[in-house]
Amino acid sequence: MKNILFVCLGNICRSPTAKAMFDYRLKAAGIEILTDSAGTIGYHTGSPPDARAIDHARVFGVDISQERARVVTAADFHRFERIYAMDQSNLDDLVRMAPIDATAEIDLVMNLAPDYGLLEVPDPYYGGSDGFQRVLDMLDAAAEGLVRELAANR
Ligand code: 4NP
Repeated sequence: MKNILFVCLGNICRSPTAKAMFDYRLKAAGIEILTDSAGTIGYHTGSPPDARAIDHARVFGVDISQERARVVTAADFHRFERIYAMDQSNLDDLVRMAPIDATAEIDLVMNLAPDYGLLEVPDPYYGGSDGFQRVLDMLDAAAEGLVRELAANR
């Protein structure tokens, strides 16, 4: 696999965190995959990630402050082999936005970590700090799941 796109609603909390966690885990495993993140809405286009997401990622040793929000484009459905949605609503939006000849495989990111027991990464935007910590924990498990999948198919 060459590339993966992570998608949430605003592209300022969950999906930039996902990109960072997956980059971190894939690099540690010596796997080269290009990643990016995007949102289904444009309210935050051009903005850096939410300050709370930046802080939580930093505790993990990952700097996401240089990321800038953008909206999913039609080209993304061809450019990326896989597109991972954070929750069911993102997935439904993606299916609606996908061009008829889309080639990307679209799935929930937590399907990479079925043992985690939660299929949706909850939106932390209106909650407290614990929500951001949970996003990190969940995405860490999903990233580990992908590394396991790729290692098994090597
Ligand atoms: P995200 O969180 O989808 O994880 O980036 C949100 C960010 C912004 C909004 C909602 C969710 N918003 O409504 O502006």
